[in-house]
Amino acid sequence: AEHMGDDLAEVLLTEEDIHGRLEELAEEVWADYHDKDVLLVGVLKGAIMVMADFMRALPGSAEVDWMAVSSYGSGTKSSGVVRILKDLDTDITDRHVLIVEDIIDSGLTLSWIRTNLLSRGPASLEICTLLRKPTAAKVEIDTRYVGFDIPEAFVVGYGLDYDEKYRNLRVIGTLAPHVYS
Ligand code: PRP
Ligand code: MN
Ligand code: MG
Repeated sequence: AEHMGDDLAEVLLTEEDIHGRLEELAEEVWADYHDKDVLLVGVLKGAIMVMADFMRALPGSAEVDWMAVSSYGSGTKSSGVVRILKDLDTDITDRHVLIVEDIIDSGLTLSWIRTNLLSRGPASLEICTLLRKPTAAKVEIDTRYVGFDIPEAFVVGYGLDYDEKYRNLRVIGTLAPHVYS
């Protein structure tokens, strides 16, 4: 469609919702990390927006690095195969690492990344995700910071894609059925 907004069935979270919650999370995170040298690890590509807004909401300086991982290919279901497309530039041995993610759905991506990063011997490893789906509750992932628990539906916008599209939407919403067909 000409306007991305026309492809949404419903807006779940507005810009204000998202930014307001990220401010709160940043405050919480800073209370825990102000005396530590935290390394934020963003998971490309979905986490770009969350990272950009979350890191600016932190009152002090923080290092940032990126990992590119893909498990979804072009569909709406996880393929079950996690691949590292780009590894960290930083040696995280003895570092306090905070993973920044857009969404935990099946939990496959983060449980894999978590195990992978833990094997490198960080001083600590925590997770901050903007969104979490009900399915994520079934997997054992210790997620210290969660923005919103959302219902089971395929969501796009604010970094989240469908077939690489809609990442640049300012809001987060569900896709209208006509988009899939
Ligand atoms: C999406 C999303 C999360 C992951 C969550 O990434 O950004 O990283 O899926 O799903 P899961 O909990 O079921 O593993 P995707 O693999 O689509 O790559 P992308 O970030 O480049 O869109
Ligand atoms: Mn992702
Ligand atoms: Mg994706």
